[in-house]
Amino acid sequence: MIYVTRRAEFSASHYYHNPQLSPEENRRIFGKTNNPNGHGHNYALEVTVAGEVDPKTGMVMDLKDLKQLLETEVMQEMDHRFLNKEVPAFATTIPTTENIAVEIWKRLELKLRVGKLHRIRLYETPDLFVDYYGNR
Ligand code: NI
Repeated sequence: MIYVTRRAEFSASHYYHNPQLSPEENRRIFGKTNNPNGHGHNYALEVTVAGEVDPKTGMVMDLKDLKQLLETEVMQEMDHRFLNKEVPAFATTIPTTENIAVEIWKRLELKLRVGKLHRIRLYETPDLFVDYYGNR
């Protein structure tokens, strides 16, 4: 098994709010990030696909295809978006770094035709990242 990783960067804004909690509780848990006007981050995404090298091509998958997949499934949907308002999944799910990673996994897993999605690593630059290995 070999692991191939592709990286992409995007920017987005968000805020943290749980409608099932009171305004006071939201402020207590989320602090400044509860401000509904939102705030921005730069994100760096690393998508790792696991597979075997195809002896015909010497590759696990065509990395142009992976780039295209990141473009249509992540960049076009999330780059320069207000995640809570513009990405339907985050109308009901708090767009934390963790939940963004899970959403990206779901989107890519549906479309990946070659290899197996192994890991989503999402950096909220400069000093935080989360790893998601799927629901296992
Ligand atoms: Ni934030």
